[in-house]
Amino acid sequence: MSAPDAQLSGAFVFFGATGDLAYKQIFPALQALVRRGILDVPVVGVGRSGWNTAQLIERARASISEHSKLDDHAFKRLCELLRYVDGDYRDASTFTKLRDALGNAPAPLHYLAIPPSMFATVIGGLAQIGCVNGARVVLEKPFGRDLRSARELNGIVLKYFPEESVFRIDHYLGKEPVQNILYTRFTNAFLEPIWNRNYVRSVQITMAESFDVRGRGRFYEEAGAIRDVVQNHLLQVMSNLVMDPPLTGAADALRDEKSRVLRAMRPLDAHSVVRGQYHGYRQTDGVASDSQVETYAAVRLYVDNWRWADVPFYIRAGKCLPVTATEVVVEFCRPPRDVFGELVPTLSSHLRLRLSGEVVIALGMRVKVPGERMAGEDVELILTRSPAETMTPYERLLGDAMRGDLSLFARQDAIEAQWAVVNPVLGDVTPVHEYPCGSWGPHEAARVIDTDDGWLNPSE
Ligand code: BG6
Repeated sequence: MSAPDAQLSGAFVFFGATGDLAYKQIFPALQALVRRGILDVPVVGVGRSGWNTAQLIERARASISEHSKLDDHAFKRLCELLRYVDGDYRDASTFTKLRDALGNAPAPLHYLAIPPSMFATVIGGLAQIGCVNGARVVLEKPFGRDLRSARELNGIVLKYFPEESVFRIDHYLGKEPVQNILYTRFTNAFLEPIWNRNYVRSVQITMAESFDVRGRGRFYEEAGAIRDVVQNHLLQVMSNLVMDPPLTGAADALRDEKSRVLRAMRPLDAHSVVRGQYHGYRQTDGVASDSQVETYAAVRLYVDNWRWADVPFYIRAGKCLPVTATEVVVEFCRPPRDVFGELVPTLSSHLRLRLSGEVVIALGMRVKVPGERMAGEDVELILTRSPAETMTPYERLLGDAMRGDLSLFARQDAIEAQWAVVNPVLGDVTPVHEYPCGSWGPHEAARVIDTDDGWLNPSE
């Protein structure tokens, strides 16, 4: 939903222009935005590598060739728009050069694709040159590393930017299948009456990745799976699953409902969490030889509100698991009586949503097997849609931020509510159990779940 009276940003600035995120995500998104006609304003990359604009353009070319596809026409235009500003973020002259590059561009967008430890320095530098008034700021995750630091960070950001100019990125919100959860729920009236504790027995959310930390050992040592993906991506998926209908599709209506349900989530405790670490993690570059950081987490969560009271939500995320897939399974209640003398399995009736790769919506049902007996089998009615030619999450989110549309960005109260859920179990509060690569995590995870079916493992 676009913000009706918001102004299009007159410049796109990204700090961390020579870094990894820019290489993997931002350049391809910029070319795509140019191709779609959304980006036709100066694009200023700021970095500390001693480069010049020609080098930045070469970096953009390499990035797009590796992570997307060069579009000659759009890339040429992107090169005309690109400028590079070099300098230390602690140095006032870096920001003076930036101001010169920006000129009088209205509502410039400043994207901080840099470690959070640098946020305050860069925001202070922008303020000094008068580049915060009327400007927008986009902040990469993680927003803080616990509830206290998230609040502190927010204090710094809000000193210079009003909340409606702050865009906190969680790229999961830019994913088509994640948006589809909300769309499907609130456009099919038959779902809402059963979308509650009276009909839902339990919900599982699995984010499995078959690869390891991919050279990000140092980052992972600071993060761990709970901070890296549970606090943000998976709680956002969960809030799309459990929130009440927003009054309208407007950004604030959506964000109000989301915050409300996040605040109803019960903070985790040591009994509801099992952490794991894959075998070999400690040999990764940048990882301590006695690291207690988790590369896997399984949690049981409750939403203490009228709609979801006592329904268990089981969430798992891990690296080096057998497949790469993110999937939600909503298990519905069994029929109250076995009318045909046959024990209907607990999992017969369910809704399965695949959120990664192919979009899948599958409705599990029990149907009769042809013949004289009233006996059945479990089937799934499956809708699949391959996400060909859809936007990448970064393209979607950066385009929205340029237009000032906040719908897919997390508001501070939601971020704090998310931290409040995981805060009690951050760090070494629970032991970490080793698991072999290619397995479904430590066997101790079985104690988190108490359904008859146990964890439901997505297929490739
Ligand atoms: C990132 C995490 O935010 O999300 C990574 O830091 C994780 O550890 C990634 O692999 C997953 O994103 P996607 O889009 O590949 O599911």
